[in-house]
Amino acid sequence: MYPRIIINKEKFRHNLKYMLNSCHDRGLTMMAVSKVFCADHELINIMVEEQVDYIADSRIENLTGISSVIPKVLLRLPSIGKTDQVVKHSDISLNSEIATIKALNKSAEILNKIHGIILMIDLGDLREGIFDEEEVSDTVKKILKLNNIKLKGIGTNLTCYGGVIPTPKILQKLVDYKNMIESEFNISLEIISGGNSSNIELLLANRIPEGINNIRLGESIVLGRETAFGNYLDNTYADVFTLETDIIEIKEKPSIPIGDIGMNAFGKVPIFSDKGISLRAILAVGNQDVDYKELTPYDTVDLIGSSSDHIIVNIGDTHNIYEIGDTMLFRLTYASILSLMTSKYVTKYYE
Ligand SMILES: Cc1ncc(COP(=O)(O)O)c(C=O)c1O
Repeated sequence: MYPRIIINKEKFRHNLKYMLNSCHDRGLTMMAVSKVFCADHELINIMVEEQVDYIADSRIENLTGISSVIPKVLLRLPSIGKTDQVVKHSDISLNSEIATIKALNKSAEILNKIHGIILMIDLGDLREGIFDEEEVSDTVKKILKLNNIKLKGIGTNLTCYGGVIPTPKILQKLVDYKNMIESEFNISLEIISGGNSSNIELLLANRIPEGINNIRLGESIVLGRETAFGNYLDNTYADVFTLETDIIEIKEKPSIPIGDIGMNAFGKVPIFSDKGISLRAILAVGNQDVDYKELTPYDTVDLIGSSSDHIIVNIGDTHNIYEIGDTMLFRLTYASILSLMTSKYVTKYYE
């Protein structure tokens, strides 16, 4: 059934093991992030078989479907209205708001559980996390009074909103926070979580400051790519996921529409340049599944546009090799894997 996303489980396992060993060899634990593939069960099973230290996802709905002894971590700050679900289906969540942490405490009390917290500190990327030093100390003081919350550690997230690249100097600030909290409150923090796949160059170069003992990895596992500079990593696969979709029309057409141009299917006025008549194919996949600009064809064809359910491809003069029902294969990016795995119209095929 097409369109389908082909998932190579052994390549996934290889990337996962490579990243896990790279962390463990340097004394760090790894949170294996499953959100890009919507916590697909076949891939979660591989995470469990390979005994990752934690399974992490940004959506509580994804964690709900996972049952294993490996601790589950909610990456996105919990919604205050969903704390029951969060406590029920995750062991640890990342947090920055005391109001939410108190709500988690209440839910944990009712459910007779202890819920773990990683307190997020914003070191300049300006997405989640406490920015003000005094607020960090004040929040820790309040957390330590809650009976059903365990402060597991602190963390930061870089190279997401602001694109800030982690450096030893920036990450050292997280270690300084750890030291400050441990000495002010006479406690020991178990997890100091330094960030995501943008830390990999530092990790492989042994430049992560001492004191940071955890990272949370998604993209590097699925695409074999670090995210500070976008470099592909040696010894990993970039093609764990591939899109295969079928051709539903092949016809010669002009490159400029005939008639007055109004809005397209998405309310935008399209602009065309005259490239003469060409042979075009229509693929049975569209914007509802993926942004075609995030697809790289393996064949030498040009993707020229899309609507909700179609992608239009200029197949030039290679018409002899395509017939209706033939398929094309595409190399994927992080964004395209995310949307294709989210689309219920795309079949999953494991190899
Ligand atoms: C808080 C947090 N940590 C880690 C990750 C993993 O990021 P990456 O895919 O760059 O490794 C994400 C995103 O998935 C995230 O939101």
